[in-house]
Amino acid sequence: MDSYSFKITGGKPLKGHVNVSGSKNAVLGILAASMMIDGTCTLENVPDISDVHVMVKICESIGAKIETSLSPDGSVTLQIDPRGINTYEATGAGVSKIRASYYLLGALLGRCGKASLRMPGGCDFGQRPIDLHLKAFRQMGARGADYRNLNGGIISLHADPLRGAKIFLDIVSVGATINVMLAAAKAQGKTTIVNAAKEPHIVDVANFLNAMGARIKGAGTDTINIVGVPSLPGNFTYSIIPDQIETGTYMIAAAVTGGDVTIHNIIPTHMDPLSSKMREMGYIIEEGDDFLRVYKDPEEEIWGTNVKTAPYPGFPTDLQPQTVVLLCLSQGQSKMDEDVWENRYQYVPELSRMGANISIFGHFALINGIDKFNAAQVRATDLRAGAALVCAALAADGTSYIDEARRIDRGYEKIVDKLKSLGADIEVTESTGYFVDKEA
Ligand code: UD1
Repeated sequence: MDSYSFKITGGKPLKGHVNVSGSKNAVLGILAASMMIDGTCTLENVPDISDVHVMVKICESIGAKIETSLSPDGSVTLQIDPRGINTYEATGAGVSKIRASYYLLGALLGRCGKASLRMPGGCDFGQRPIDLHLKAFRQMGARGADYRNLNGGIISLHADPLRGAKIFLDIVSVGATINVMLAAAKAQGKTTIVNAAKEPHIVDVANFLNAMGARIKGAGTDTINIVGVPSLPGNFTYSIIPDQIETGTYMIAAAVTGGDVTIHNIIPTHMDPLSSKMREMGYIIEEGDDFLRVYKDPEEEIWGTNVKTAPYPGFPTDLQPQTVVLLCLSQGQSKMDEDVWENRYQYVPELSRMGANISIFGHFALINGIDKFNAAQVRATDLRAGAALVCAALAADGTSYIDEARRIDRGYEKIVDKLKSLGADIEVTESTGYFVDKEA
């Protein structure tokens, strides 16, 4: 069933325990990195989500062998053998389905000294340029397509040889930081990335590259040093870190339904930007070594607040839509300042169908608190927007339908089963046909 909806009857507090899956954004970078190994590797705690399925198919299309198996805890393990890679061209249709396919530019440049890639896809937040990636590759000696002069939407680069360089990122970019780390791992000499992104998945990709045999220091700070090595032997097992955004989404779902949920297999410090805002609003967040419990005192009011998205350790833009749902169900007026993407409020008209009172002024959203959402028929305009609508529908009175739910399955493993286990009334139904289902 390609086109389906989530049917959610809200108003039930979520209660119980839920396990978080491996990080989507980490595993996508790591899968690309694994294409540079001269041996094999095993990846554990891989999330079973459609973006990973697409990335695995792209890697197989260039000659890698990837075997999938289920671990006893239900997570996915991948056995990866990239030794059969027989091309530097990744130009199939799958490449433009996801954003992270652009990591193959760095990985194939590193492996083959050449890379041809179809322009990547992903969620539509307005302009999503990759000029910083291409500028960095040029500084490392790569020649070929300029960003303004692509050949039929294909980027082709070649370097003879690829050399280390000092790369200053004038905007903090997750994608450019990872792509430069990949290419630099096998470049000649030393690369320094200044003003690097510090997201948890940057550190995870760097740890994975080091386990492969790369020499990377400083990941998680704003200066990363990479000394290129001639070969990356591999032959190791690596476990993906937990997903920060999935964790935050369950924290918000618990909160807006007035529930009491303990979220396991997580790294609580990754959640500090959200935990601190939720505590400020009046929620109770209890923290253990690898879990968080979220609930509220029924006697206490929940107050609105102001939030500004920023690169890590700032407030994650990928939790912005879910957080707006949280702010809707609080007292007074709140302000959201989306400072990473130029257009990430496409879901607001959908939330307004459910009774939200939100005004948009450029990158600001002014949110006036409401008592309840009402059920409605809405459309998941992108992955995290869809997650936000799920949170709103779980808190709403009545039965909502979220169309184009496949966008949510891009990034949330078994979301329907996990929410059901917490007591939610949610099921997958055929598309209502109310909205025209467009390809994402
Ligand atoms: C990644 C995440 C995405 C998240 C984003 C910010 C993946 C697969 N996706 O996206 O979920 O929302 O980080 O945390 O990991 N920019 C440029 N030129 C470039 C690159 C970026 O101007 O060459 C700008 C972008 O327009 C944006 C900002 O830099 O305004 C940050 O983008 P970036 O961190 O690169 O996001 P992605 O890596 O694409």
